[in-house]
Amino acid sequence: MNSSDRHAISSIDDCRLINIPAIRHDNGNIAVMENVATALFEIRRVYYIYDIQSGAERGGHSHHNTSELVIPLSGSFDVVFDDGVATRRITLNRPDTGLLLSTGIWRTLDNFSTGSICLVLASEKYCEDDYVRSYEEFKRLTAVKR
Ligand code: TYD
Repeated sequence: MNSSDRHAISSIDDCRLINIPAIRHDNGNIAVMENVATALFEIRRVYYIYDIQSGAERGGHSHHNTSELVIPLSGSFDVVFDDGVATRRITLNRPDTGLLLSTGIWRTLDNFSTGSICLVLASEKYCEDDYVRSYEEFKRLTAVKR
């Protein structure tokens, strides 16, 4: 199968904020993803980005076939997401609100606050072959599918 065939297309309108139900107490809150994340996709991988330097940019890629839920566990950052036609920027700053990035979306993360931590739940295990790291290639893949 060539890369065009396996690159799933979605729209930035498929990317949406997901509220994670929280149990709130005076002495702290618990956000539970038992139902929310499993309703979006089966979680096959969890990773988090931390010790992020001021001015850093992360991401800068798309996936052929991986959906992700991005959650600002601590602090804030922006996610820019792009379906090859339209682009949107969203600031994430609540640990009970994540952004669903559907598969095939180009994403960049920037504007990280000091000490921020970005948690990602992913629908697939890590596989470098699933990445599209060239924006020109991403544009080509999305153009041939439309
Ligand atoms: P990458 O996904 O490009 O980072 P980000 O999108 O956060 O900027 O990954 C950076 C490096 O880490 C790259 O060499 C691949 C490796 N990596 C893994 O080995 N396993 C993983 O689950 C992830 C997310 C990355």
